[in-house]
Amino acid sequence: MNPWLATLQWYIDLGVDEAIAATPWNRFEAAVAPTSVAEAGQPRLQAAVTPLAKAPPPPPRPAAPPPSPDLLHLSDVHDLETLRARLEAYDGCALKATATNTVFGSGPADARLMIIGEAPGEEEDRRGIPFVGPSGHLLDRMLAAIGMDREQVYIANTLYWRPPGNRTPTPAETQACLPFLKRQIELIGPKALLLVGAAAAKTMLQRSEGIMRMRGRWFDYASGDGRPDIPALATFHPAYLLRSPAQKREAWRDLQMLQIRLAGGKAE
Ligand code: URA
Repeated sequence: MNPWLATLQWYIDLGVDEAIAATPWNRFEAAVAPTSVAEAGQPRLQAAVTPLAKAPPPPPRPAAPPPSPDLLHLSDVHDLETLRARLEAYDGCALKATATNTVFGSGPADARLMIIGEAPGEEEDRRGIPFVGPSGHLLDRMLAAIGMDREQVYIANTLYWRPPGNRTPTPAETQACLPFLKRQIELIGPKALLLVGAAAAKTMLQRSEGIMRMRGRWFDYASGDGRPDIPALATFHPAYLLRSPAQKREAWRDLQMLQIRLAGGKAE
């Protein structure tokens, strides 16, 4: 293999999937000790490796600029395309700077079911569409199991931009996106929400329990402003199910509850 490609492959195997970090880091200012290594007469390779082991932690991420009140005042937005345009103009979430695409959402604007995940991954970031990577393929199969497909369901995430390296989003990043997601839910007006994974369930339901306690239960998503609450079912995230296939059994039960509720029944 071409040595450059081999080096890149080596980085990928190590888990490196970002060419840049969320914030710049001046490595010339890093506290390295090349002189002591050079004085000790160590070979150059050693000099290149030693500082890495002692590299200081990256500097704290700068806070995102405060969101513009105009952009966050969304009650004058009455359709999804205008909401998307507002989001594209919004700089209140630092993740936007490192993402390739804004992943706004996909599906019919009048969907009866809205699925909310955590954040775009690598493939979603590349294509600007939610749940199109490995988790998305499993989500498609889960929907098919209850006789549904993407053409009938609106899919979005609690975050519109991929956190670098798929790191856990900060509460500030989640809060910066939340007004847009709330308005998106209002505009779609689904009959039910399916919250996949702990992040989506905790954010949308404002609860602190883990997903093990929340999954398989119906909650009321508070729409606010006098609007009726929306029934919201929490379940496992497909990425978790890919890692823990034994839990698919529980997820299947959750999906059956959802199917009954969407058919007009009252599955508890
Ligand atoms: N995981 C999520 O939570 N959302 C996506 O869009 C992709 C993976």
